[in-house]
Amino acid sequence: MAQQVQGVVARAKGEPVRIETITVPDPGPGEAVVKVQACGVCHTDLHYREGGINDEFPFLLGHEAAGVVESVGEGVTEVDPGDFVVLNWRAVCGQCRACLRGRPQYCFATHNARQKMTLADGTELSPALGIGAFAEKTLVAAGQCTKVDPDASPAAAGLLGCGVMAGIGAAINTGEVGRGDSVAIIGCGGVGNAAVVGARLAGAARIIAVDIDDKKLETARSLGATHTVNSRETDPVEAVRELTGGNGADVVIEAVGRPETYEQAFYARDLAGTVVLVGVPTPEMKIELPLLDVFGRGGSLKSSWYGDCLPSRDFPMLIDLYRQGRLDLDAFVTETIALEDVEKAFERMHHGDVLRSVVVF
Ligand code: APR
Ligand code: ZN
Ligand code: ZN
Repeated sequence: MAQQVQGVVARAKGEPVRIETITVPDPGPGEAVVKVQACGVCHTDLHYREGGINDEFPFLLGHEAAGVVESVGEGVTEVDPGDFVVLNWRAVCGQCRACLRGRPQYCFATHNARQKMTLADGTELSPALGIGAFAEKTLVAAGQCTKVDPDASPAAAGLLGCGVMAGIGAAINTGEVGRGDSVAIIGCGGVGNAAVVGARLAGAARIIAVDIDDKKLETARSLGATHTVNSRETDPVEAVRELTGGNGADVVIEAVGRPETYEQAFYARDLAGTVVLVGVPTPEMKIELPLLDVFGRGGSLKSSWYGDCLPSRDFPMLIDLYRQGRLDLDAFVTETIALEDVEKAFERMHHGDVLRSVVVF
């Protein structure tokens, strides 16, 4: 039987979100219904509301979530009812060129649930990033569910579904930070600070956090940054060079998404160093780089999608580290809020005073 639950819906561009009654169908073949336990508020949810992603309103927001599988459809082998899972954006095929190359986040044949959740009048909802987890229950493709240790707190576990995984993965997967490396992270919001944590987990010797906000730098230090640079006061490229014996960092991670910080990242790398781009630019942004600097400094320029994560490998591993006290996911949960407070959380996000607000059910 289809079920009625409460969910946070964005009906039109720029309008405040509202709680609405939504209908969640029974899971069809390859699908699962998940009872959501926690879902973080991410910038991308706000982008959806502002019409910055696409025009397929109304959206059911929320995509950084953990919960318990309630029921599964025909032919589902990935998970069973009762499993505690972290949700990811898309189920991957495992067979295309991208998957076989070990880069499933570029899979050519990803999918979400085939059926649609609807509003009371039957209007089909577009779930944010194919998830839609600011709702008591949501319908996803079973392959979007990754089973993890059920003793982990849902608020912490859910963070792996988006921002924290993007940051940790930028360091450990895309940047391949190694023991003893120097790493510079430009932009220390939720994603950049997760990259700080990733660099620390990978055994980096120097972790240089760069931001324009001293509060963010303080948090970076508490999470493992060994040096901090306020780039409003100090030229970050020179500062990174100085802190690395004049060389530049082995790995530079850009987690802002602006032309000037892309450029800083590019010049803060050591000869043959790696630049990892996590910050998402807007379509009109451009930078100009002298080709001789691209060619002459060598190294590599990589973009990192979803932390180049392989959910089945990375989610359980990171939850394991969390359970052992070696990865402080709780530090990213600034506040837990109710479903009604998502709009307020968007405002707080604008002011930049939270790493994550997490809706807890
Ligand atoms: N130089 C350095 N830091 C900056 C600058 C700048 N010019 N401008 C902004 N920042 C800092 C902010 O102070 C903040 O700490 O960048 C950080 C951005 O953090 P958040 O707004 O919390 O964003 P976050 O969720 O971390 O995402 C960062 O990664 O995945 C992408 O789409 C995401 O582009 C976004 C980026
Ligand atoms: Zn997100
Ligand atoms: Zn594939």
